[in-house]
Amino acid sequence: MSTTAQIPCVYDGLQQQQSQQPGNEVQAVGVSKNPEDVIQPADGIPPLHQQSFKGTLVNHNNNTISVHTPNNASSPNQHRRNVSVTANCYLQMLTSPLKTYRERKAETVTPTIVEEASVAAEPQEKSNFQKDMETAMELMGAIGYAIYGITVAIFVSIIPRRFRYKDITDQIVLVTGAGSGIGRLMAKKLALNHGAVIVAWDINKTGNEETVEQIRAAGGKCYGYQVDVSSRESIYAAAEKVTAEVGKVEILINNAGIVTGKKFLEIPDHMIEKTMDVNVLSNFWTVKAFLPAMMKDGRGHIVTIASTAGLIGVNRLVDYCASKYAAMGFNEAVQSELRAEGYDKIYMTCVCPYYINTGMFDGVRSKVVSILKPEAVVNDIVAGILTNQEQIVMPRALYPLLVLKMMVPGEVGRRIAAALGITGTMMAFKGRPGGPPAPSVANLNQSTGQNKTS
Ligand SMILES: NC(=O)c1ccc[n+]([C@@H]2O[C@H](COP(=O)([O-])OP(=O)(O)OC[C@H]3O[C@@H](n4cnc5c(N)ncnc54)[C@H](O)[C@@H]3O)[C@@H](O)[C@H]2O)c1
Repeated sequence: MSTTAQIPCVYDGLQQQQSQQPGNEVQAVGVSKNPEDVIQPADGIPPLHQQSFKGTLVNHNNNTISVHTPNNASSPNQHRRNVSVTANCYLQMLTSPLKTYRERKAETVTPTIVEEASVAAEPQEKSNFQKDMETAMELMGAIGYAIYGITVAIFVSIIPRRFRYKDITDQIVLVTGAGSGIGRLMAKKLALNHGAVIVAWDINKTGNEETVEQIRAAGGKCYGYQVDVSSRESIYAAAEKVTAEVGKVEILINNAGIVTGKKFLEIPDHMIEKTMDVNVLSNFWTVKAFLPAMMKDGRGHIVTIASTAGLIGVNRLVDYCASKYAAMGFNEAVQSELRAEGYDKIYMTCVCPYYINTGMFDGVRSKVVSILKPEAVVNDIVAGILTNQEQIVMPRALYPLLVLKMMVPGEVGRRIAAALGITGTMMAFKGRPGGPPAPSVANLNQSTGQNKTS
């Protein structure tokens, strides 16, 4: 009895055997996926799915070879049945002297293993159970990390903040809106108490120059630029100038802000656009301008001066609240992206103060929560920056209210806000005389930093 093995070939070596003619004596090695196709070795070697055949080549094409094998072949393997091998094989000319089965097996195993390894390397589809388990493990890890983080934070908070400050001596800190209010106070404190080199940006030339002079007169370093942060082009041009003239900005404080303080339908369209430009879009452009250098250095700090109006929607502050919510979202999302990309030494701080007595919100009345003093706010912000604090809400008493807001129905939240007098705060709003600063033609012409005060 004799058999003919039809062997689908996937072994590249077949190409080298194309010169083989039907009738030539050949040796083939195949691996069967079907256990029924096991060939019983004659000398007590356990059955294998992989076997070698010796026989006469019937024909071959690119994918299949047919080998006619007499049952009295000198191969030590005896075919149990007609073998239709469905996996890998390779075809080899019979060379003399004939090798032993073990030698041949050692040779022939190699290509098979290579093929098997490549099959095994293919990713296995995970079952839903495995995926659920992985998610559960990740969640457990996150909860574990949260417990660890909170425990560490509690212990760290026992250490007075000033002992945890990072050193920012000679670091370049850019403050937008440095010409008045908390912008000026932050610039002064960072320069005079902590040795930072301040770059002061403001649309208000006079106010900005005063800030520069006050810092210099007290022995600090400060460079002023008149910049309209509602203009993307002005920001990009001024950023280039600052980098060339002062150096790399290591801490960026997006502080410039405006408020209209009107009922939504009474706000002129252009003022809504201006509020969004100054309060949030400017953050996109400044961060785009300065973040690449921070990423290159692998360190830096971006501060967003938002507001509690970015946490609670308040009547007569629709445009302002929308801009501050957006600024907070921007801050949080950039931070998430930086962490995801592995930049864990570029810090972000988001500041949410309640009303501050700077003049921006003149006329505001607050029934229960006290209006904040600018100096106290600036102390907290600077301490937060120096300790890489991520979120600062002022006053702290508002934290529980914010948690409550997420838990109670909207109407309950509004009643609590009304009882605390928050909904009535803007009724007597006056703001700064003349409203938010508008750039004059001269200001716009100079708003690319040509008006550096140095
Ligand atoms: N005052 C508050 O009650 C209060 C509360 C929460 C948050 N904030 C936020 O704090 C930040 C500072 O406010 P502040 O109280 O010191 O007000 P501020 O009016 O004293 O300071 C704002 C500064 O931004 C500058 N500015 C405005 N438009 C500009 C522009 N287009 N380009 C460049 N500079 C521009 C102004 O000239 C001004 O110097 C703002 O972002 C504000 O929204 C203020």
